[in-house]
Amino acid sequence: MSLPLRFRLNQEDVEIHVQDPTVPLLDVLRGDLGLTGTKSGCAIGYCGACTVVVDGEAVPSCVQMAGLVEGRDVRTVEGLGGPDGLDPVQNAFVKCSGLQCGFCTPGHVMALRALLDEDPDPGEERLRETVDGNYCRCTGYVKILDSAREAVELERAARVAREAR
Ligand code: FES
Ligand code: FES
Repeated sequence: MSLPLRFRLNQEDVEIHVQDPTVPLLDVLRGDLGLTGTKSGCAIGYCGACTVVVDGEAVPSCVQMAGLVEGRDVRTVEGLGGPDGLDPVQNAFVKCSGLQCGFCTPGHVMALRALLDEDPDPGEERLRETVDGNYCRCTGYVKILDSAREAVELERAARVAREAR
């Protein structure tokens, strides 16, 4: 027997059917919904590769039971950006070359997106804490931290531009 699961995903209502509501949200996103931007790394809530934003909070989707997002708001990396281009956090990673293979990048981007939505001027310590929660096996963290700092600046510029319209 399959059970209906309804939630908001990247600003659209979705309804799917799952055999088991305890299946990880990560599997539903990548398997049922084909959103492969969210990566699977450790699968035990440790590496941050699978980070998505649920009701404004960055969560590891590999340990988030899918059934518990019923009625909630989920954002994945596919939901960022729009007609005006990439999200400021994505632009920051491009500008600062904050990636090599890119496997960890969606997790970093979503964690930073949640942080900036909560606090547009988070300060160095919170930026470091956020970046620290996501493992990168390629770059070291210098350029990732540069990207995080740049994201704050690009976010501020985007806000000023929006307010001037
Ligand atoms: S794959 Fe989810 S935290 Fe590593
Ligand atoms: S860029 Fe390859 S794991 Fe981070």
